[in-house]
Amino acid sequence: MLPADDLPAVLRYLATGAGLDPAALPDLPEDAEHADTGPDLAEIRGQERAKRALEVAAAGGHGIFFRGPPGSGKTMLARRLPGLLPALDFPEALEVTRVHGAAGRLPAGQAMLRDRPFRAPHHAASRAGLLGGGAPPRPGEVSLAHRGVLFLDELPEFDRGTLESLRQVLEERRVVVARAGGSFVFPADFQLIAAANPCPCGYRLSQQRDCRCTDAAVARYRQRLSGPLLDRIDLHLGVPAVAWRELLDVRPPGEPSGAVRARVVAARERQQARGAPLGVRTNAELPDAALDAMVDASAESRALLGRAVEKLRLSARGARRLLRVARTIADLEGEARVEAPIMAEALGYRRDEVDA
Ligand SMILES: Nc1ncnc2c1ncn2[C@@H]1O[C@H](COP(=O)(O)OP(=O)(O)O)[C@@H](O)[C@H]1O
Ligand SMILES: [Mg+2]
Repeated sequence: MLPADDLPAVLRYLATGAGLDPAALPDLPEDAEHADTGPDLAEIRGQERAKRALEVAAAGGHGIFFRGPPGSGKTMLARRLPGLLPALDFPEALEVTRVHGAAGRLPAGQAMLRDRPFRAPHHAASRAGLLGGGAPPRPGEVSLAHRGVLFLDELPEFDRGTLESLRQVLEERRVVVARAGGSFVFPADFQLIAAANPCPCGYRLSQQRDCRCTDAAVARYRQRLSGPLLDRIDLHLGVPAVAWRELLDVRPPGEPSGAVRARVVAARERQQARGAPLGVRTNAELPDAALDAMVDASAESRALLGRAVEKLRLSARGARRLLRVARTIADLEGEARVEAPIMAEALGYRRDEVDA
């Protein structure tokens, strides 16, 4: 890539092959800094467990699924994920700008997008709106969320076919829109955060109200989410409503997003150093074949995982997800090895899937 001041400079370069200098690429100040304009984690009272899970998700690039009653703060938590992620670097900012440009969504007067995208499409959005398509083909929400966060609130309300396609997008990290004249490829490398009520009425986990749902209705509601999609989300968390007393509490606010982000950035640097030979940036992307070599798990932590696999009847995929999450927790803690307490924390983000 070469920077040019104006069109005549480009034409001169094309004619003569000279006059443009790659070293003149501008350094973005945002490369090192974060604008910190979004909502802050400090505004969330209590929910220490959910906040920790959000930090782990941010650090390892893991998908996260919150299940809890209305008003428990799921949306509030989701909106704070972009603020925990490192600032976009220059190549990423270019990619994001290109996708939004292709969608005709660049804000007037803004040449370059600098913030990580946060997209929260409604469950009634069209398939093309979500995944991309139309004539001429345009990127959908999954691509507008590229290098950022895709939030799917009320996940069971989304169309099943669309969720199945989403599973494929999560794997390929891009969308191919086929057309008679050729196909269009849009990038779609986003971090997924999803939320759902625990049951149709919403109050199954709540202490404030009684749940009115029958067991059969709850089972039907859960079945709307395909196993294979949930199986590709690394962290699962039940989010109980915070008691009013705690919400009114005058304790000092919690840790600000910037402080958490500093730990996330440090953990990501460790992952990048480790994953570079594989072209992998985050633990969430670690290929199955590389897991044993990359996740240095102690014998004790492996035994713990083995017992959990039996007890929770985890699939092989589920067990591998746990290894990736455990690696991320170790990276947050600055630990070279995954020891048993770290594995135990990772297991906690899986158990909710069974209990909640
Ligand atoms: N832990 C919390 N700390 C501070 N405010 C909260 C908390 N949980 C809920 N709230 C308040 O309740 C409102 C609803 O939260 P929301 O995130 O929309 O819940 P959900 O998405 O789970 O239905 C928020 O706008 C906020 O004012
Ligand atoms: Mg909500």
